[in-house]
Amino acid sequence: MACFLASAFLFILQTFAAPPQASISLNGINLNDEDVTLSPPPGTSKRPPHSIIIGVRKGGTRALLEMLDIHPEVAAAATEVHFFDWDENYAKGLEWYRELMPYSYPHQITVEKTPGYFTSTLAPERICAMNSSIKLLLILRDPAERVVSDYTQVYFNRLENHKPVQAIENLLVRNGALNTGYKAIQRSLYDIHMRNWLRHFPLEQIHIVDGDLLIHDPLPELQKVERFLNLPPRIVASNFYFNQTKGFYCIRSDGRERCLHESKGRPHPVVNSTVLQQLRSYLQEHNRTFFRLVKRTFNWQ
Ligand SMILES: *[C@@H]1O[C@H](CO)[C@@H](O)[C@H](O)[C@H]1NC(C)=O
Ligand SMILES: *[C@@H]1O[C@H](CO)[C@@H](O)[C@H](O)[C@H]1NC(C)=O
Ligand SMILES: *[C@@H]1O[C@H](CO)[C@@H](O)[C@H](O)[C@H]1NC(C)=O
Ligand SMILES: *[C@@H]1O[C@H](CO)[C@@H](O)[C@H](O)[C@H]1NC(C)=O
Repeated sequence: MACFLASAFLFILQTFAAPPQASISLNGINLNDEDVTLSPPPGTSKRPPHSIIIGVRKGGTRALLEMLDIHPEVAAAATEVHFFDWDENYAKGLEWYRELMPYSYPHQITVEKTPGYFTSTLAPERICAMNSSIKLLLILRDPAERVVSDYTQVYFNRLENHKPVQAIENLLVRNGALNTGYKAIQRSLYDIHMRNWLRHFPLEQIHIVDGDLLIHDPLPELQKVERFLNLPPRIVASNFYFNQTKGFYCIRSDGRERCLHESKGRPHPVVNSTVLQQLRSYLQEHNRTFFRLVKRTFNWQ
């Protein structure tokens, strides 16, 4: 029902707003703003996504998208325009959203990622209204580790923008107690966000990738994703090689080698162990609820 209402809303909003400048795409055949004068490869078209990587922020969404892009039947785009979250984007209509997708061949499926969707209150209903049978991918890692990683990203962003920064303990603790209002903690309450998605999508339609496993041994996790997306198995062990210096896997496909962007391996701060323990015990209860919701457990330390 909720899904239907949003459908009607979106239908009304089908305006033909000017398409966005360009999509940031990882797929070899996609165009970007530098070559807008080129025409799209013959036989390709822009189509709405068949699958969306909905999050979680700092869970390994970029790695997952890049690794999936190895598959010849996947056309991947890191859209990240928050189409379904932000009313000014949503009001531009589905036509505009489709324009953000990569050009793809008819035998390909399109996958986009917007990591903020998992914790968004609007996205589940609106995505359901667009395509109630869409396949959702969610990549998660230890929620406490994710908090530290989230902090680290914000920390470096603030440094780059010459904004003041704080020690992580100052954000995690307020008046001697865990500051549960801290956004990074809120984003790690997987059970709360998952409940919102399960109101609109059956569990079978949301495949959860174990982000810790993906980083340590990518192939088995990717094979599960291939099966979930009904793709023939095409990703193989030789598509990955371990980079000692970086300490994680790089990708080899179509004669190209690529490693994840430098910022993805930023060193984490050493967190006061008492504070970290407080954080872990707070999250413990939430991940137990989460395991019940998804009928699966994760080996989070
Ligand atoms: C909705 O998603 C499913 C699953 O990926 C896909 O098969 C179908 O073509 C999509 N429908 C539209 C209208 O894009
Ligand atoms: C491994 O990572 C280092 C450090 O980022 C980089 O300079 C080097 O080119 C990488 N080597 C390969 C083979 O990818
Ligand atoms: C860690 O924080 C607690 C208070 O939250 C403090 O009592 C303790 O001294 C701190 N430990 C270190 C090693 O800084
Ligand atoms: C739940 O997550 C917390 C925080 O990461 C962790 O300390 C705890 O061991 C986890 N519980 C289980 C059962 O995995």
